[in-house]
Amino acid sequence: MLRASLLYLSERPAIFRFIKSNGLARKLSSRFVAGETLDTAIAAVRELNAAGVTATLDCLGESVHSAEEASAATATAIGILDRIAAEKLQANVSVKLTQFGFDVDAALCTANMRRVLDRGRELDTFVRLDMESSQHTQRTLDLFLSELHPSYGDRVGVVIQSMLRRSAADVDRLLAAKARVRLCKGAYKEPPDVAFPDKADVDRSYAELMELLLERGNYPAIATHDERLIARAKRQIWSKGIEHDKFEFQMLYGVRRDLQQELVKEGYRVRVYVPFGTQWYPYLMRRLAERPANIAFMVGNLWKESTR
Ligand code: FDA
Repeated sequence: MLRASLLYLSERPAIFRFIKSNGLARKLSSRFVAGETLDTAIAAVRELNAAGVTATLDCLGESVHSAEEASAATATAIGILDRIAAEKLQANVSVKLTQFGFDVDAALCTANMRRVLDRGRELDTFVRLDMESSQHTQRTLDLFLSELHPSYGDRVGVVIQSMLRRSAADVDRLLAAKARVRLCKGAYKEPPDVAFPDKADVDRSYAELMELLLERGNYPAIATHDERLIARAKRQIWSKGIEHDKFEFQMLYGVRRDLQQELVKEGYRVRVYVPFGTQWYPYLMRRLAERPANIAFMVGNLWKESTR
């Protein structure tokens, strides 16, 4: 119930306008968001790299409403690629198609995406298309499989959400295409005919898809903080003799830093998703929805800081 309410609020821009003017909310966001500028995000990536962790940078922002906004988001993504190269960071980039105009003009979005991928290819940097709500799944996979993957190969990857009922079939298609896949559980509010309503089914689906990807995938990214699934992955890696450079674990900025470091110490590759920018509200609400205890945790920390 609380999860559904937080996800509902994540889609209300009027609430964001109210919350953004509130200093407390901005402070809350800093646990999960690496600041509002590329400079603050780059500083976070440098720290991660120093700790043996790679990164994927995401300039926050979703569905734009005009070609101008889409073009600005495209320029920002290209700027991130340039900065990664200039600073020689161990990092790549994650983007959302709706930032590039997917819901405004599909052809424009494809052209924007190609500009980003062309720059990524010049700089030898990988770009991942994040997966958004299920209204976009089919179109995202169609664009990826019919245009982007054939043109850019291993320089571009996509995301599969284990919560969606369709994902087993999608993973089959992506395995056949030898495409690079990040597997996550899925962060959006979805109807029960589209997504498994029970968490146990989402987790079971994750385990099944993870096994397939680890065994037959092209450098899959196992994106979860779920210790049981990570332990299961490790058992499979060990029993099948899968080499550590054939996949990576991925986690979110500010979530389970202890587990990130534990995996690095054990010799696994770990990449952290580093979001930044002024449009942090929907992202923050999705993180709170995943673990409503975060609200109490963050408010408690702020209280401790303010009374220290
Ligand atoms: P689950 O939610 O079951 O949590 C397992 C445990 O992890 C919890 O018990 C808790 O200990 C810890 N945990 C999880 N979330 C936490 C939080 N917010 N704060 C503190 N602890 C937390 N989604 C999507 O729809 N499209 C996408 O493109 C992506 N991309 C993406 C990239 C990367 C690198 C990651 C790690 C995740 C995504 N996601 C995503 C988000 C993903 O779908 C999912 O919502 C979150 O990862 C939480 O799910 P877990 O797998 O961690 O499991």
